[in-house]
Amino acid sequence: MTMMPTVTAPRSLPLAVRIARVDGVFYHAPMSKRTTAPDYSRIAPMYDRAREWTAIRSDEVVAELVPARSDRKLRALEVGCGTGNYLKAQVENGPSSVSWTGIDSSRNMLVRAQAKLRNVRLVFGAVEALPFDDGAFDYVICRASFHHFSDKELALRELRRVIRGDGWLRIWGGHPEARRRWWVYRYFPETVAIDESRFWGADRLFETLQAAGFEVQVRTESNLRMVATKSLQERARLRDLSQLALIDEEAYATGLSSLSSEPADRVVDESGIVDLRARRLD
Ligand SMILES: C[S@@+](CC[C@H](N)C(=O)[O-])C[C@H]1O[C@@H](n2cnc3c(N)ncnc32)[C@H](O)[C@@H]1O
Repeated sequence: MTMMPTVTAPRSLPLAVRIARVDGVFYHAPMSKRTTAPDYSRIAPMYDRAREWTAIRSDEVVAELVPARSDRKLRALEVGCGTGNYLKAQVENGPSSVSWTGIDSSRNMLVRAQAKLRNVRLVFGAVEALPFDDGAFDYVICRASFHHFSDKELALRELRRVIRGDGWLRIWGGHPEARRRWWVYRYFPETVAIDESRFWGADRLFETLQAAGFEVQVRTESNLRMVATKSLQERARLRDLSQLALIDEEAYATGLSSLSSEPADRVVDESGIVDLRARRLD
């Protein structure tokens, strides 16, 4: 059974808040208008079709932190946990002495996480008003979620608040600076401006976190390779990527048509991530 959360209300709430408990998930969501994230409730049915939790490695930062906390379980949080793939990989393959919590602002994504997870506390809520006590976690990760947060300054204040002194924050995910030749940008050029406006560059992340009292390291990794055009066509039709969900129907149809008429069987593709690890100093 999924553990029932003990959730404390945040001191201030940005907008109206709904609280209810449904199917083992504690619902606690500020209702705000967001433009940087698509409607994940619509994407949820397609999301897991293109992704396997088995492809996700156990988190190396968690592995490093666990031995130092042998007196009690490490308290770890994933913000924007989506359908729970990262959490599932951690529970199955990571150290057992970790108490995991996931929070997400999409009910439909959480319902899918709920179906695959046991012994993980799942909370419906938003990063802008985290319903957790100050210093509640030793480790917080935003995996492929930080670019979605519409108020990143507020998000960082909240993330910092819930991390204990000497605790860790990780912001990990695909990033435009590391994948300039990504197939999505080539066939759907409107997505470039969308990503440039919502992603923070590695420099900005580094400097903002430093100024907020973290010791920061940022690593960027890119991978260029040839991929089968057919697999890209199938992926584009799924429309599970937020970039494809955020462009309008006309731009989507034009991109799909140019991808469908691509004469080459294989094309160049670049994937790349930015991985920020930051230790709270005070
Ligand atoms: C690309 S998915 C990543 C899901 C998961 N971390 C993974 O790696 O598969 C981004 C998730 O962030 C969530 N999200 C977006 N904005 C959020 C916010 N302000 N607070 C909490 N979650 C948010 C979305 O609902 C979505 O489930």
